[in-house]
Amino acid sequence: MSASQKRIDYRLAAGGKLAGRLRVAGDKSMSHRSVMLGSLADGVTRVTGLLEGEDVLCTLAAFRAMGMQAKGPENGRLTIQGVGIDGLRPPAQPLDMGNSGTAMRLMAGILAGQKFDSVLIGDESLSKRPMKRVSEPLGKMGACIDTAEGGRPPLRIRGGQKLRGIDYPMPVASAQVKSSLLLAGLYAEGETVVTEPAPTRDHTERMLRGFGYPVQVSGSTIRVRGGGRLTACDIDVPADISSATFFLVGAAISPGSDLVVEHVGVNPTRIGVINILKLMGADLTLENPREVGGEPVADLRIRGSKLKGIRIPEDQVPLAIDEFPALFIAAACAEGETVLTGAHELRVKESDRIAAMAAGLKQLGISIQETPDGAIIQGGRLTGGEVDSHGDHRIAMSFSMAALRASGPVTVRDCKNVATSFPNFVDLARRAGLGIKVV
Ligand code: S3P
Repeated sequence: MSASQKRIDYRLAAGGKLAGRLRVAGDKSMSHRSVMLGSLADGVTRVTGLLEGEDVLCTLAAFRAMGMQAKGPENGRLTIQGVGIDGLRPPAQPLDMGNSGTAMRLMAGILAGQKFDSVLIGDESLSKRPMKRVSEPLGKMGACIDTAEGGRPPLRIRGGQKLRGIDYPMPVASAQVKSSLLLAGLYAEGETVVTEPAPTRDHTERMLRGFGYPVQVSGSTIRVRGGGRLTACDIDVPADISSATFFLVGAAISPGSDLVVEHVGVNPTRIGVINILKLMGADLTLENPREVGGEPVADLRIRGSKLKGIRIPEDQVPLAIDEFPALFIAAACAEGETVLTGAHELRVKESDRIAAMAAGLKQLGISIQETPDGAIIQGGRLTGGEVDSHGDHRIAMSFSMAALRASGPVTVRDCKNVATSFPNFVDLARRAGLGIKVV
């Protein structure tokens, strides 16, 4: 094992509260998309607030390997010299998407439309994740993509195919599938039409427009026409509500907390966590709401309060899809029962998040019953103990916050992948009041 592959565990002291003001890492979804669209645009795109997490660095490295030149990132600043919609060059090697499902699925859409062949590979977790959800509809558009057995990575993408627009009703509510098809649609003849079964994050649609590319949205149907060009623009990436969530939950569950998380993206397709926490009785307010580069932003103030168990409305599930590991911790600290349904997608994230959270919460003395598409969680008293993150960044950060309400120290195993989405988590958490040590 090399130094960079060394396993990292977190040791957390029991109890405490969170206070102060902080700004968490940049939005991961928007950071990926700004690198992708900036690379394909004509002209120079300047990004600020970029997430310098490993996932986004994989996307950036992939475009550099295809001839894009960029300065940075440094302190969240990245200057991209766009190559134009047809300006990418064949990569010499397979493109490594690391731990990132977003990178692999969106890149598949872009690469399906290129003149050259390419291969997308990923780490152990990504290599187990389902890719048929993009390779199949892209195939209907005329793309030629081979997957490994069971529709898993690597993806071998044959270039030089003529893509044509399709009309695709998506079987799962997935922003990654939607975005993959819209990006392939830039290279397709005619119109690509995607209909979502439920609203999902719309950063691709918003950012395409920001780059001057027409996108039609009517109800749940999104349309793009191929053959256009993207014009470089400046992008200010707000803080990631998914990263803010660990602090929101940490403060909500610990009496006496009073925390402001600044400049958080509060796009309506991302605020399921705010809605759910409020239903649970959290003392959460949006301050100073404003618009930054076509995306709504606010400072989120949260104070410790008594939470109550709820039945989570299914329409909030896609709007909070990455926030459930932390919400399970909130549910464990709430009074009464919390019931989650309609969240089967959690089983195919960086880990099986229903199984990973159930196993960890049981270790900490909480009664939780898994169901195929969710869980039933009984609020209770968290004990100290040892939990496994299963190499999943969001599981690791969620259990770190659980320590605030635990009766003894908590150890979270295998936390290296926190660097994929939130490289300065430990520093910020410590500054806010969490007793966290890296061992
Ligand atoms: C993302 C979409 C979601 C989310 C992921 C980021 C995106 O995935 O879980 O972390 O940036 O489009 P699905 O589309 O699979 O729900």
